[in-house]
Amino acid sequence: MPAAKQEDDMEAVKVAEGLYWVGAIDWDVRYFHGRSYTTDLGTTYNAYLIVDDKLTLVDTVEGPFFDEMLARIKSVADPSRIEYMIANHAELDHAGALPRIMDVVPQATFVCSELGKPAFQATFHRDWNFHTIKEGETLSLGKRTLQFFPTPMLHWPDSMVTYLAEQKILLPNDAFGQHLASSERFDDEVPMDVIMGQATKYYANILLPLSNIVQRALTKLSGLKIELIGPSHGIIWRSQPGHIVDAYARWARGETRTKAVVIYDTMWDSTRKMAHAIVEGIGLEGVDAKLHNLSSTHRSDVMTDVLDARALVFGSPTLNNTMFPTLGDFLYYLGGLKPRAQVAAAFGSFGWGGGAVKAMRKEIEAMGLPLLDEGLEVRYVPDEEALARCVAYGRQIASRVK
Ligand code: FEO
Repeated sequence: MPAAKQEDDMEAVKVAEGLYWVGAIDWDVRYFHGRSYTTDLGTTYNAYLIVDDKLTLVDTVEGPFFDEMLARIKSVADPSRIEYMIANHAELDHAGALPRIMDVVPQATFVCSELGKPAFQATFHRDWNFHTIKEGETLSLGKRTLQFFPTPMLHWPDSMVTYLAEQKILLPNDAFGQHLASSERFDDEVPMDVIMGQATKYYANILLPLSNIVQRALTKLSGLKIELIGPSHGIIWRSQPGHIVDAYARWARGETRTKAVVIYDTMWDSTRKMAHAIVEGIGLEGVDAKLHNLSSTHRSDVMTDVLDARALVFGSPTLNNTMFPTLGDFLYYLGGLKPRAQVAAAFGSFGWGGGAVKAMRKEIEAMGLPLLDEGLEVRYVPDEEALARCVAYGRQIASRVK
């Protein structure tokens, strides 16, 4: 007798009357978007099954998790009865299992946005029974009505959200999500600081450059009564949906606090000494200071701190007449995320020609952050007087953001 598959025991989780979570938990994944983003706590791919006169699946999971999703669907309904496949987004973490579920139900109506259809076609090269939705279009499933709203660029041009009108439930795909694997599914079952830590990291690394678009989407969705939010990653917001909506509104507005983040790397400890002295100076002014050595903190975790920081301070030793490679990597990544700090500064150590501070200034200017000044440089190893200058520099930075 063949051994039972591990997935056979996996069940759907009831989210609301007739709505089930049928997603997958990826406990092991440690990176997202290549290696640009660390998912230290894993993630989930949330798919939702609506049991109504028309059996409906909203989104799927990454391709390798198809069997897990199918087992969860089978625990409440026969998958071959699916009549509508609602695909909110074409990225493979949600769409990867589409070809296999569509092989089960090739006759199903495939519902997506107008920009979604070419994205799904170019990704899967399949001729499914596409139905593209218009802004606000509705679809009756029997007792329930789905309403669709395109949300282009949240997170891709094809993205849309699905709203269960009678139950006031929003299934917004990537928006309001977090990369967080857990055996619990709901916001009242996991400590809020754990959820928000991952929600903040998600926004800082994925949605930050799209903040104007987030604001427009929030305005568009503000007309809907929302009692539950089921994102496509992480925890489902059933107790405090307003908590994450309010946080998105703050982040999208670019709200910052009196906080400075010092981001540096070091070669022979000189820049490290400078960084610590600068942090000391910032703290002496009563401003929250965070310190990250890029050799020990991943760029995506630094970004979580950058999101609400008012000052960004970059430190690098000079190597080959320019900045350290880790600073080059971080500034390149940061530029794409369009940070909105009020002031930036650069510092570093050098032995003879220098060049790191100048190179960092160039990158900072290119991303449009206001520079405090020309920067602070120390030759070889900082002595007491140089460290005192670093403390004073920290005070000066802090005074600009109080
Ligand atoms: Fe979770 Fe844009 O995919």
